[in-house]
Amino acid sequence: MASQREPIAVIGTGYVGLVTAAGFAELGNEVWCVDIDTDKIERLRRGEIPIYEPGLADSVARNRERLHFCTELAPALEQARLLFVAVGTPPTYSGDADLSAVHAVVDAMPASARHALVMKSTVPVGTGNSIKRTLAERGKNGFAYVSCPEFLKEGSALEDFRAPDRVVVGDDGDWAGDAVVALYAPLRSPLVRTDIASAEMIKLAANAFLATKISFINEIANVCEETGADVLEVARGMGLDHRIGTHFLRPGIGFGGSCFPKDVSALKQLAGNSGYHFQLLTAVIEVNELQKRRVIGKLQKHLGSLVGCKVALLGLAFKPNTDDMREASSLVLAARLHADGAAVSAYDPIAEHEARKLLVGVQFADSALDALDAADACVLVTEWPEFAQLHWPTVRERMAGRLVVDGRNFVAPRDVQAAGLVYEGIGRLACRR
Ligand SMILES: NC(=O)c1ccc[n+]([C@@H]2O[C@H](COP(=O)([O-])OP(=O)(O)OC[C@H]3O[C@@H](n4cnc5c(N)ncnc54)[C@H](O)[C@@H]3O)[C@@H](O)[C@H]2O)c1
Repeated sequence: MASQREPIAVIGTGYVGLVTAAGFAELGNEVWCVDIDTDKIERLRRGEIPIYEPGLADSVARNRERLHFCTELAPALEQARLLFVAVGTPPTYSGDADLSAVHAVVDAMPASARHALVMKSTVPVGTGNSIKRTLAERGKNGFAYVSCPEFLKEGSALEDFRAPDRVVVGDDGDWAGDAVVALYAPLRSPLVRTDIASAEMIKLAANAFLATKISFINEIANVCEETGADVLEVARGMGLDHRIGTHFLRPGIGFGGSCFPKDVSALKQLAGNSGYHFQLLTAVIEVNELQKRRVIGKLQKHLGSLVGCKVALLGLAFKPNTDDMREASSLVLAARLHADGAAVSAYDPIAEHEARKLLVGVQFADSALDALDAADACVLVTEWPEFAQLHWPTVRERMAGRLVVDGRNFVAPRDVQAAGLVYEGIGRLACRR
């Protein structure tokens, strides 16, 4: 069976590229993985996985014979006709998506009527049609193009590959779209086959909507704090309405990561560049920025001036089960704490290596308790499961102060308070449970 699956190439072996490669290798495809990062390719060839993603190391190891890692495009072009593009599209200073890595891939394509670019990278609406025009202008009309946006979530990326909510394929109705549909067929997931621009918009609109839900519930949480309601009760009561749903109604200290902030900004800028002012997204972004800083106000409420205080940050990654620090709330928090004269200690079970590259002046600890040593306050930043197991009486002994700010409404206030600590959640009535 496996031999009937067609070989593919994946250009860019980061979070999306490596997961996509491993996922298709599991389905029986030979996968040629190309990256310009020679160190990354060397590590992958040695069997090392450059990122933390549950199950990925096992999957790559199990499918080693079908995964080929290289820094050159030539072997990939020779072996595969479908070239999945999974290079980064980070934000520029203007908030637009930086497409330089995508353009570098397009520029490297030969004149060929046999190949297709399959865009996994998140790109502004219109990119696919613009790439097709560019290829045609260069006499490469035969090159096919498919938009196949990726919806995986870091932390459960492989599961998301194996059982996606949907697969979106935007194409011109040619062989390449059919081939991508055939590749995903064994997953038996709902398929949305559409035009290229609509596929590109589905990705941006989905992320913008999820980000909007988060900023919405965060604002409800803030109003709950002013009015004496408990946002967890409110979210439960709202979420049971099927039209609303329970997902993404968890208040906290703002969204981060490599996708939401940049995709919301990219859609807002895309709209602006097209002459439309997307007011709602402007608010979503602003609410999120302010939400990250609300922790500082909570600390000041209890401690007064933060000059000379020691604050322990538990969790640094933008969410649990990843070592991704891109746009993590911890970055804003640590910077604000330093600016206010506080000393910052921190612990993250996985992301320390990445965090050390970005956080200056932070004292890294080997455990949550070590980070809490002599701290005036503890801030739960990332809801790593191990923090749910914290023994609060021991925490109380190790800390100099008594304040616990639960930035993810993750732990039970009653347990914290029973240890003689002061609990502050987000929009939550501490006395309730
Ligand atoms: N990370 C996510 O959760 C996620 C989810 C859905 C969609 N996306 C989108 O997928 C794309 C990739 O994201 P990521 O998080 O995997 O990025 P990443 O930074 O982890 O990986 C990108 C990889 O591309 C490589 N690269 C850059 N230029 C290259 C070139 N010219 N040729 C070959 N390789 C090149 C880089 O060396 C890097 O290894 C982005 O557009 C992102 O928005 C990401």
